[in-house]
Amino acid sequence: MTGLREISAPEGRSTGQRRAGQELVIEHLAAGYGKVQVLWDVSVRVGPGEFVAMIGANGAGKTTTLRAVSGVVRASGGRIGLGGQDITRATPSQVVALGLGHVPEGRELFPLMTVRENLDLGAAMRAEARAAQQQTLEQVYTLFPRLKERAGQLAGTLSGGEQQMVAVGRALMGLPSVLVVDEPSLGLSPLMTQTVFEALKAVNAEGVSVLLVEQNVGLSLRLAHRAYVLENGQVVKEGTGEALLADPGVRAAYLAL
Ligand SMILES: Nc1ncnc2c1ncn2[C@@H]1O[C@H](COP(=O)(O)OP(=O)(O)OP(=O)(O)O)[C@@H](O)[C@H]1O
Ligand SMILES: [Mg+2]
Repeated sequence: MTGLREISAPEGRSTGQRRAGQELVIEHLAAGYGKVQVLWDVSVRVGPGEFVAMIGANGAGKTTTLRAVSGVVRASGGRIGLGGQDITRATPSQVVALGLGHVPEGRELFPLMTVRENLDLGAAMRAEARAAQQQTLEQVYTLFPRLKERAGQLAGTLSGGEQQMVAVGRALMGLPSVLVVDEPSLGLSPLMTQTVFEALKAVNAEGVSVLLVEQNVGLSLRLAHRAYVLENGQVVKEGTGEALLADPGVRAAYLAL
């Protein structure tokens, strides 16, 4: 795919697998928590096989947007479509069954379960994922060789970067056609961040559509085909990663340049 700059890292090897990416469309999304409205007007499109980033300051509503896509937060307005199906009112399990993989903020692993058990949970909710479980596991181990070495280790005893690999691997075990990833670089060293980003790039190169939410603005804009800027629950800018990297407003607000 064009627009993806090369970054090198020891892990994140392509598994050679082709997957059919689907389109994710968010149109004029409004949502909140109880009486507090957080999202006012969020429109984002991720085309099949596209790598899209969403950037924004703390509290802008990035996580809430991904939670609405996953059916964890109810939309109070607007529409969300996945692969042509309306998922605005779908439950989390229905959304997973339709091919969405969510790598949540903070990873949300089960610390007292092993790496392997955490990964297996990612396949549990879809019949086709269970049928392909062993094969997919091998692909996840190809992407993250470290996880094969640590398969029997309790997830809570892994380093932060390794835990992030498990969180990405768990989502991949569900055979997603669209992967949404919430701040994977949080708390990771620059090298480990690169490793995880390299893996996301490899997954995208296999065909999976990716929506990446990040505060590591420089790296995500270099990686993404296109990006959106979210401020106070509204999309205020969109463009190619390259164009936004050159945008004076983006540079001043998010890159301190
Ligand atoms: N469960 C909740 N209940 C009430 N308010 C919430 C809840 N989760 C988030 N909020 C509020 O919604 C707003 C948007 O939060 P959100 O987590 O979507 O932001 P974000 O862009 O992901 O921020 P960050 O970069 O810090 O992760 C914030 O003002 C936050 O306090
Ligand atoms: Mg967040």
